[in-house]
Amino acid sequence: DAAEKGGYDHYMLKEIHEQPTALRQAIAGRINGIEEGVDLSDLSLSEEFLASIDEIQFVACGTSYHACLYAKQLIEEFADVRATVEFASEYSIGSGRDPERTLVVGVSQSGETADTLRALRMAHRVGIRTLGVTNTVGSTMARECDDALYIRAGPEIGVAATKTFASQIIVLAMFALTVAETRGELDVTAGRELRRNLQGLPGAVQGVLNQNEDIKAVAEAYADGEAFFFIGRRLGGPVSLEGALKLKEISYDHAEGFPAGELKHGPLALVTEETPVLAILTDGTRPEETQNNVKEVQARGAPVIAIAADGYRGGHDVEFEVPDLGLLEPLVANVYLQLFAYHVANSKGRAIDKPRNLAKSVTVE
Ligand code: G6P
Repeated sequence: DAAEKGGYDHYMLKEIHEQPTALRQAIAGRINGIEEGVDLSDLSLSEEFLASIDEIQFVACGTSYHACLYAKQLIEEFADVRATVEFASEYSIGSGRDPERTLVVGVSQSGETADTLRALRMAHRVGIRTLGVTNTVGSTMARECDDALYIRAGPEIGVAATKTFASQIIVLAMFALTVAETRGELDVTAGRELRRNLQGLPGAVQGVLNQNEDIKAVAEAYADGEAFFFIGRRLGGPVSLEGALKLKEISYDHAEGFPAGELKHGPLALVTEETPVLAILTDGTRPEETQNNVKEVQARGAPVIAIAADGYRGGHDVEFEVPDLGLLEPLVANVYLQLFAYHVANSKGRAIDKPRNLAKSVTVE
């Protein structure tokens, strides 16, 4: 067991540290240079179909659902196609959809989550084309969908998904570039920048991993918080949700994530000196506006841990640095949140790889 964990105390910590490798595997052969288009040669959906769709519906659960929330924004930004995200367990086709012009994308690490399979089958029955994005070759999802894209993250054992989150998002980012190109919507400069940032992501993630000891010290200093709040706008929204999910899954602490603007519409009532607030202040998250929300929680005495790009640090209790990586900066921020959750949970002696009541793959609806 110890050997399988590669010297780490838990699979989760090992898998967090495997992210640079996982990310390199995900882009290998797919991004071959900043000036070259993305090569998703395993995608078999025709160009005509991709050019003709007027809606992409994402369905997923848990962490994969958060990856979809991030991807939706990238698809809309780059490919100018309407994209929606639904919890797979809540999916219905919806009215006014033309099955011929709709694509349902199921995202699932395991490819076996019952809720996600159900949603995909529902779409399939009415003639909607389906794409599965998964880590598991030969999974039910990969077999049943019209097309499959693999994220190539390698096996993930820890119940709480970690490395697969970033891998799902970057595969979906490459998908967004492909759809944008096919539809003649790809802005040359924006495309080049995203490809450059995709190539830079593994190194940037490594930079966060190298700060593990510092993150551990901060996690231990704040571990006794009564509750934890995670805030960020736009692409910082899904990362806030994911940061809170990780923490609650493995530490059993109360944690909530939400778009920063919603703070004043309710959650602010729960903010006290005992509730640390983790704020995402990077590119793609409208950091200037979130700074106002940070002031609101500071006025209530809450300690603030800022995960921030240049220009947005200063005036917080703790600050972690995010390097320049455009729309992928929130993904770098997420790695700080993963390590924060891990060390809070570990300091409390929790069963990190097998949290109570949870399963790696949920095969009942
Ligand atoms: C379970 C796991 C989560 C995971 C979710 C979706 O609830 O505990 O970590 O995010 O299933 O799993 P999937 O394999 O569909 O991505």
